[in-house]
Amino acid sequence: MTAFDRTLKIAPSILSADFAAFGAEVRAIEAQGADWVHVDVMDGHFVPNITFGPQLVRAIRPHVKTVMDVHLMIAPVDPYIDAFADAGADILTAHVEAGPHVHRTLQAIRAAGMKAGVALNPGTPAEAVAPLLDDVDLVLAMTVNPGFGGQKFIHATLDKIAALREMIGDREIHLEVDGGVDTSTAPLVAQAGADALVAGSAVFRGGSVEAAQVYGENIAAIRAAAQG
Ligand code: DX5
Ligand code: ZN
Repeated sequence: MTAFDRTLKIAPSILSADFAAFGAEVRAIEAQGADWVHVDVMDGHFVPNITFGPQLVRAIRPHVKTVMDVHLMIAPVDPYIDAFADAGADILTAHVEAGPHVHRTLQAIRAAGMKAGVALNPGTPAEAVAPLLDDVDLVLAMTVNPGFGGQKFIHATLDKIAALREMIGDREIHLEVDGGVDTSTAPLVAQAGADALVAGSAVFRGGSVEAAQVYGENIAAIRAAAQG
């Protein structure tokens, strides 16, 4: 990544892609206007679902020309940081709920050469990340309970997003939201101050690698809705 840029980012989550065609899916969403590629790693322990690990992230890496935004929904995190660095993650985000030493985790992510993100579940208050702001490049506010795509947006998270936006102030930290973001909820999160919007089902819905223009239409619609 180059200089800090708070312009709106749309980050399609490949959790909603065709798992047998990740390379082609990544190329398709980037060609259709994705700003970042959001990669959801789940361990069946921190969240009740399993996706994939560093080897698959490494396999996707050559196809990503923008930013590979890796969201870890795993516990513990620390034993795997080097593996995700080697796999080529640009941003590595760990959950504040994933262990007792998140500050150490964030420092280790930066020491491994990546941007460090910290994620909060819907039930975790904004204050949980206040002591961490010197050590992060991104705060990720979950707007659903992590684990699955296609869930309903939790409106009670909007006040927290606004509080996080205020806490971040002028710091060079992205405020990302993840879960249930579509054309109806994008304006709400943008208004609350989010600058990076993850969207899985709302981007991939109705499209395919062969009908990739649908991805482009979906991305453009979410962006337009967010920008009002
Ligand atoms: C949920 C994941 C999300 C998910 C979003 O645990 O972190 O990134 O893919 O999917 P949608 O946009 O369908 O809610
Ligand atoms: Zn995610």
